[in-house]
Amino acid sequence: MKLWGGRFTKETNELVHNFNASISYDKKFYKQDILGSIAHVTMLEKQGILTAEEKDAITVGLQGILMDIENGTLAITAEYEDIHSFVEANLIDRIGEPGKKLHTGRSRNDQVALDMKLYTRDEIVILNDLLKELMVILHRIMSENIDTYMPGFTHLQKAQPVTLAHHFGAYFEMFRRDRSRLRDIYDRMNYCPLGSGALAGTTYPLNRDYTASLLKFDGPTLNSMDSVSDRDYLIELLSALSTIMMHMSRFCEEIILWNSNEYQFVEIDDSYSTGSSIMPQKKNPDIAELIRGKTGRVYGALISLLTTMKGIPLAYNKDMQEDKELTFDAIDTTKGCLALFAGMLDSMKFNNKAMENSAKNGFTNATDAADYLVGRGIAFRDAHDIIGQLVLLCLDKEVSLDELPLEEYQKICPVFDEDIYEAISMKTCVEKRTTIGAPGHDAMVQILATNAKYLQES
Ligand code: ARG
Repeated sequence: MKLWGGRFTKETNELVHNFNASISYDKKFYKQDILGSIAHVTMLEKQGILTAEEKDAITVGLQGILMDIENGTLAITAEYEDIHSFVEANLIDRIGEPGKKLHTGRSRNDQVALDMKLYTRDEIVILNDLLKELMVILHRIMSENIDTYMPGFTHLQKAQPVTLAHHFGAYFEMFRRDRSRLRDIYDRMNYCPLGSGALAGTTYPLNRDYTASLLKFDGPTLNSMDSVSDRDYLIELLSALSTIMMHMSRFCEEIILWNSNEYQFVEIDDSYSTGSSIMPQKKNPDIAELIRGKTGRVYGALISLLTTMKGIPLAYNKDMQEDKELTFDAIDTTKGCLALFAGMLDSMKFNNKAMENSAKNGFTNATDAADYLVGRGIAFRDAHDIIGQLVLLCLDKEVSLDELPLEEYQKICPVFDEDIYEAISMKTCVEKRTTIGAPGHDAMVQILATNAKYLQES
């Protein structure tokens, strides 16, 4: 059953039909397609293009189709080319003549542009909520670990002590930006393409402002050729999803490391771990690894769509049908990963002692020891050198800076006094860092208050 049989004298080759058809995946937006059609006929009636009876018959018919799909009595089957053909054919079957007027002043080109926008717009809201749920969990863990000391790393080498709250706060910022990116995309895409026709608008006196307002858009799009061939918002969305996945993959990588025997900073809950078929002792962080791995397919979707769109002349071309499967897959993958990641994080146990012990080793207080000398009038570059010599000595004696006797300090630099131990204690190292964004207790209390307000308001 086709929308365009009139001009043809031969049946479509079966392989061609299958190759061309998109119903196996565009059925995903049956609801958006139907709601878009209802808005379209509501506008057509307002403009006197359809009678009230025609509009009512079509609306009731479309609502019936929607209900039957949702309650499982109407199956979306493969003999149709796409969801648009399926809905229109069903409507005509149900209500007869008025159904044939549904497509007045419309093309599948503006219709599919609308459906895809409606679908992704809904998905952006869901993604935004999932990110928020994850951030609420992060916020809870941060609030509970404001004084949990751990090593901060650069080059995966212990650098300076921080806190778990501070470390997780970095991810909180990443996810905050991710949500703001989604918001931007939503605002930029939220213009209605319906009424653009195949590419050149229509000769009917459509009221595009009205259709746009019925579908909760900020207005109609302003160029009909652009409207039917714009996929920028999908590229932006895939880029935002890639960034979300990149953030999660970094977090997963850290969790995998921290969950390892060598670190033992955290323990992933049994319910989020898997075992080995041969090694009875194993408890593997498969979920974190899979999320890290799935990042690749979301990046793939972005590159794929960019490549598909490259060099396409105006206006609509069938290449654009390729936007769907990969966008749907990237959205579903990201949503799945966000939910799984949140659950894994929420049920994870933190080994505060192991983190703190680790921070005590590895000379994470060496910068503070240098700052101690600066406080006693020594230039930072000289102080850096002196502490460097002390670190070398400690390495030789297999002790930490805290354990090195004062005489040894004084042999290298007489300025050292008993108060050096207080100055390089982990507590001092962290708590003295109170500038905005630093790990010190007071700075973190303020950030947590800001974050709590953010979560309440957005
Ligand atoms: N399935 C098509 C797509 O996704 C719908 C638009 C078809 N338009 C056309 N001129 N063949 O792009």
